[in-house]
Amino acid sequence: MEKVCQFLKDAGTYYLATVEGDQPRVRPFGTAHIFEGRLYIQTGKVKEVSKQLAANPKAELCAFYKGTWLRVAGTLVEDDRLEAREAMLEAYPSLKNRYAADDGNTQVLYFQDATATFSSFTKEPEIIKF
Ligand SMILES: Cc1cc2nc3c(=O)[nH]c(=O)nc-3n(C[C@H](O)[C@H](O)[C@H](O)COP(=O)(O)O)c2cc1C
Repeated sequence: MEKVCQFLKDAGTYYLATVEGDQPRVRPFGTAHIFEGRLYIQTGKVKEVSKQLAANPKAELCAFYKGTWLRVAGTLVEDDRLEAREAMLEAYPSLKNRYAADDGNTQVLYFQDATATFSSFTKEPEIIKF
């Protein structure tokens, strides 16, 4: 999981896909943080992405960095604990301009039943489950 999180940080931007009815939705994301042994992302409850995950928590992300692409497929589970939100904001202080742990909007979610696949044109895929 550490390797997955580090890859997401190295890539800088990943693309998070959700489902809305029968329509895939995708957008750029950047937050990735390990807290209590789980891989978390951050968003705002006002966003469509948050509403889509509430209706269907299945998600997949993709990032590309130095010839390798990573896909992480799984379920995104909200952690509604203040300490989980605080840990994310500490990891991304720049978010504090727009978010606070207790603002009722900040949301952190962790991957459950995740399958991470590192792929490239030159190597066999590497699969990590967490
Ligand atoms: C490089 C980059 C990184 C981003 N990272 C995040 C992020 O980690 N969390 C988030 O909620 N929005 C992030 N955003 C903003 C979302 O992409 C944007 O709010 C998007 O519209 C949300 O998807 P939605 O419109 O389907 O709700 C990022 C945008 C960019 C350009």
